[in-house]
Amino acid sequence: LMAEKGGYKHFMLKEIFEQPRAVQDTITGRLLEEQGDVRLEEMKLSDAELRGISRICIVACGTSWHSALVGKFLMEEHCRIPVEVDIASEFRYRNPVIDDTTLLLVISQSGETADTLAALREAKARGAKTVAICNVVDSSIAREAHGVLYTHAGPEIGVASTKAFVTQLVALYLFTIRLGRAVGTIDQATGRAMIAALVKVPGLLEKALETNEQVEKIARRYVNARDFLYLGRGMNYPIALEGALKLKEISYIHAEGYPAGEMKHGPIALIDEEMPVVVLVPKNSTYEKVLSNMEEVIARGGRVIAICSAGDDEIAKKAEVTLEVPTDGEELAPILLSVPLQLLAYHVAVLKGTDVDQPRNLAKSVTVE
Ligand code: AGP
Repeated sequence: LMAEKGGYKHFMLKEIFEQPRAVQDTITGRLLEEQGDVRLEEMKLSDAELRGISRICIVACGTSWHSALVGKFLMEEHCRIPVEVDIASEFRYRNPVIDDTTLLLVISQSGETADTLAALREAKARGAKTVAICNVVDSSIAREAHGVLYTHAGPEIGVASTKAFVTQLVALYLFTIRLGRAVGTIDQATGRAMIAALVKVPGLLEKALETNEQVEKIARRYVNARDFLYLGRGMNYPIALEGALKLKEISYIHAEGYPAGEMKHGPIALIDEEMPVVVLVPKNSTYEKVLSNMEEVIARGGRVIAICSAGDDEIAKKAEVTLEVPTDGEELAPILLSVPLQLLAYHVAVLKGTDVDQPRNLAKSVTVE
């Protein structure tokens, strides 16, 4: 079994460390660097069909829903098409507004999640075009959608999704480039710049993984906390949700993700000297805003674990502990910030002695309602 895990103690850790390669596999063979475009023929949508889309709905569960939330930012920013994100178990019972100009994107690692499959069938019945972002080749969802965009992360065994999530973010970025090029909102130069940023990601992920030992020490310091709060803004808010979900799933510590600007409307009441608060504060357009949210936490005695851009000394002076990751630009930062959050959940769970790869009450793929 140790051999199957490639020398790692758990599949989850192996899969976290596989992420640079997984991302490389997601992008390999798809980049048209000269044209500033990508090749996604398996989606089976022509430029004319892409131009006919008036609205996009993205439907998923759990971690895949978190990647959908990031996708909304990318698509609305670059393609100027309204994007709605829904949880599959809600969508299927909601009488959603869908017609033949709606593109329904479903996201699923396994391709077998019952709620997501039902949402896909419902949308198809109402005339939507459907595309599945899927990891498992030839799974039910991949087969039933009109088109597919495989993530190519390789088999994910750990119940807590890691490399599948990160490759979903990459797939959504590729999808955004393709859509933007087809509808004309992304010009060739922008497409080229987006691709140039993307090809750096595997190398940056390697660097982000170098935080592993430091994260392990941090995990020791906070392992006895009863609750954790995770804060982020914009595209990093879904990453806060994902960080909290990872911790809950494998360490059984209660954790909540929140948009940093919303903290003052309630959760700030929870903050005391016992409360670790993970703050995602990379250098980007809302940096100053998040910094001031972080200061509000510190002023109330909260214990800030800041995840910031490499070389940010200002954060290091203020937070109780700091983890630096190379973020290089705003849009791909969510991918890199995910790494220390996965590692934090992992090491806390190992210290607690839980069954990391098979946490209680959970199944890798939820094929029942
Ligand atoms: C992730 O860590 C979870 N175990 C879970 O939320 C999962 O993402 C969800 O069940 C969706 O699975 P899918 O991507 O295979 O559809």
